[in-house]
Amino acid sequence: MAKNLVLYFSVYGTAKAVAEEITKQTGSDLAEINPAVPYDGNRDHYNALAHLAKREHDEDARPAIKNAINIDGYDNIFIGYPMWWYTFPMILYTLFDKYDFSGKTIIPFNTHMGSGDGGTYDTIRKLEPNAKVVDGLPVEMRDAETGAADAVSKWIKSLEI
Ligand SMILES: Cc1cc2nc3c(=O)[nH]c(=O)nc-3n(C[C@H](O)[C@H](O)[C@H](O)COP(=O)(O)O)c2cc1C
Repeated sequence: MAKNLVLYFSVYGTAKAVAEEITKQTGSDLAEINPAVPYDGNRDHYNALAHLAKREHDEDARPAIKNAINIDGYDNIFIGYPMWWYTFPMILYTLFDKYDFSGKTIIPFNTHMGSGDGGTYDTIRKLEPNAKVVDGLPVEMRDAETGAADAVSKWIKSLEI
């Protein structure tokens, strides 16, 4: 049987909620991408996070990942993240720089407030040319807050994993 991992980065908790829902519905293992320098998850401080995220984006930064992530032995890896400034947070670039997903199937999902996936599934295809990257699931933030169980269920069925 294929082994599945759900890997996610989340600051406000919505990508986390979707990750947990996918984990529940697929019986996958779950792992988080933890930044070495934590981001402020207080939504009242949005402006400061927006400013920091923009700077990281403009500087093409590679924020360090604190934890070792084990992707060995997994066939299918769900990767979830929020949209930040029309793409994924720069720490996802760190992930794809650091880990080689060759031969694996990447199943992306993301949370957003209107940008959809913003072309990030294609970005992953470019960064991991030797992985199979399937079409992912974009979830609007307000639906993602509670895990988006129905949308996740429909999507999982369509994946045939
Ligand atoms: C710094 C920052 C930048 C964002 N940029 C976008 C964006 O470009 N497009 C969009 O649709 N949503 C954007 N959002 C909204 C997030 O994608 C949305 O709040 C998401 O649900 C957060 O995921 P999380 O709860 O897992 O952290 C942004 C949010 C933050 C904090």
